Amino acid sequence: MKLIKLLLKILILTMVGCTSNKSIDTNREQDIDNLISSMTLKEKMNLLHASGSFQSGGIERLGIEGLIMSDGPHGIRHENGNDYVKDSIDTDSVTYLPTGITLSSTWNKELGEEFGKVLGAEAKARGKDIILGPGVNIIRSPLCGRNFEYLSEDPHLSAKMGVGYIKGVQSQGVSACVKHYVANNQEVNRGTVNVNVDEQTLREIYLPAFKAAIEEANAYSIMGAYNRFRSEFCSHNDYLVNEILRKEMGFDGLMISDWGAVHDTKQALENGTDIEMGTDLKMDIIDYNKFYLADSAIAMVENGLIDEALVDDKVRRILKLVFKIRDFKRTEEAKTNLPQHQQVALQVAEEGIVLLKNEEILPLRKASIKKILVVGDNATRKHAEEGGSSQVKALYEVTPLQGLNNYLGDDVSIDYAQGYIPTLENKANEQLILEALNKAELADVVIYVGGWIHNIGDMWKGKAYDCEAGDKANIDLLFGQQELINRLAEVNGNLVVTIVGGSNVSMSGWMDNAKAILHAWYPGMEGGTALSNILFGEVCPSGKLPMTFADSHEEYPAHVIGEFPGENDEVTYNEGILVGYRYFDTKHIEPVFPFGFGLSYTTFSFQDLQLNKNQDNIRLNFILENTGSIDGAEVVQVYVHKKDTKVNRATKELKAFDKIKLTANSKQQVNMQIPISDLQYFSNESNRWELEPGEYEILVGNSSRDIFLKGTIAL
Ligand code: GLC
Repeated sequence: MKLIKLLLKILILTMVGCTSNKSIDTNREQDIDNLISSMTLKEKMNLLHASGSFQSGGIERLGIEGLIMSDGPHGIRHENGNDYVKDSIDTDSVTYLPTGITLSSTWNKELGEEFGKVLGAEAKARGKDIILGPGVNIIRSPLCGRNFEYLSEDPHLSAKMGVGYIKGVQSQGVSACVKHYVANNQEVNRGTVNVNVDEQTLREIYLPAFKAAIEEANAYSIMGAYNRFRSEFCSHNDYLVNEILRKEMGFDGLMISDWGAVHDTKQALENGTDIEMGTDLKMDIIDYNKFYLADSAIAMVENGLIDEALVDDKVRRILKLVFKIRDFKRTEEAKTNLPQHQQVALQVAEEGIVLLKNEEILPLRKASIKKILVVGDNATRKHAEEGGSSQVKALYEVTPLQGLNNYLGDDVSIDYAQGYIPTLENKANEQLILEALNKAELADVVIYVGGWIHNIGDMWKGKAYDCEAGDKANIDLLFGQQELINRLAEVNGNLVVTIVGGSNVSMSGWMDNAKAILHAWYPGMEGGTALSNILFGEVCPSGKLPMTFADSHEEYPAHVIGEFPGENDEVTYNEGILVGYRYFDTKHIEPVFPFGFGLSYTTFSFQDLQLNKNQDNIRLNFILENTGSIDGAEVVQVYVHKKDTKVNRATKELKAFDKIKLTANSKQQVNMQIPISDLQYFSNESNRWELEPGEYEILVGNSSRDIFLKGTIAL
């Protein structure tokens, strides 16, 4: 069948004037226009909507197949039939990478590109044209159920980590699909909630990751969010799509709706939807002709209400992507589950796990330990299949307990106690606590692994925590974990606590009783290996928080100043640009652990800051020294503070970062630069970017609160 299609395609292309492969390459636009002129309106419209749960429509007659898409942001999802039912094949297990927030916690741009290459290669191997990731929505509240898929509270970190990821994916001949455009920062009422954001906040906080995706990474497609933005649905929003994406950013890629995010034919035709996916219109049997960009759209064109040129523009963009993907010449065949893919998963986990506290207990020394007790349901729980659309059928998943068993072998005896059971009742289990306490008395060290789980049972019905379609109620430690941790500490002071999950938990009630604390996010298929390597010093921790850790969700600006999740289907981001550390630092509020924070097993010193500037950039260089006896990596962070500002701006903003690996007792000069245009603020008054004259303080350190070098530049 494929051969017939191919011959047919060559015949058609020949007919419409494409005489050879060569001519196709050189005047692709002309080929596309010739193809379009040979299409009927019905055929064009077929390209504009789904023909399956994860495939857009094609044109059999012209040998044009629909674009094949797949979730998710950290691994290729199961093969799905036409109606979202998983296929029964067993050849679709893949690399389960750490989730987005784990990747951003590495602050390693190059690693982001490696991550994207793995994802792109595995998508290609599985016959996908578009991978539905990265998720780059700003973490506005710790409650959002999809924070685990996203990158940061900060637009610069989100942008830079997203760019690497997208470049990596697209280097494999697969389109990334950057999502969810825009301001999809909660799951409650995500399909209808109307988000109200002022222009400065939109431009400075919620757009930059998408802007960088298009302008720096040349993203081939963007996914329109479910929510409304200033009262118009994002997937067909005149201002967001026609004005910002198309006119301002010159985006010539595809705007693909989220699944079921199109609600109006005329708006979809006029406001930029290129492909309508997933609209179920509450149909028993999905009839794709009943989609908005289908029969009703044809009728509008035939009745002269809509200019067919609008349809041609969409078809043109779709065919450009089709040819981009089809013409891509791979240097070698794409494969899934390569050892080097698993190695990338391990490295992202090792560099993404954040060491938050260490009272001289880590790294553990194998030689001085006879018996370890591992406590916690998350020491044995696997997470890959959970979380919603980002689920992954992992080839394997090394749990923390397995990782410890693999690492220690018979050298150290390891016992295990579940300690708590995730139940909907969310209460402690005294019997399990007592079992853990009895075992803890006999151990040299207790390693606790707890925190969040994605959801209990069916996410669409059960309680969802770190999961799509639901937000958390608070960030309290669930299932009696706080009591368990504190009682364990009474029995055995050598307590190391690891929290797994897509955002922080409340810590004040137990953190003083733990000698060490790590946050492991969802560290993917090699998470258990990575955790053991860090606990026993095979790897020196280098992860840094991509979000502020406060003790309660009520301390976050979205809840103090803003609305979350809003009411009457309206949510207004009154906190404006004061998201995350921009709020805590500007309002001088002490978080539990600040944005950009993470400990190492070695120490670093920052010396001799030199600043200068030219027409376009501020240039800085300084000396970074690993003053300890262990090889490690430091994330150098550069924040900018405008002295005596007269406008609405945060007291500091991240404007540059780099991850520098340094062997023990070595030093190196670090050179960085900040485009002066990055120091602008967006004025709601003049409705454009402006550079405020005056003095800017350049702050260099290894967290938003740990600044070691300062300098001033006058602009
Ligand atoms: C989901 C998600 C989106 C996903 C899509 C396809 O509802 O919002 O991230 O890629 O639908 O599963």
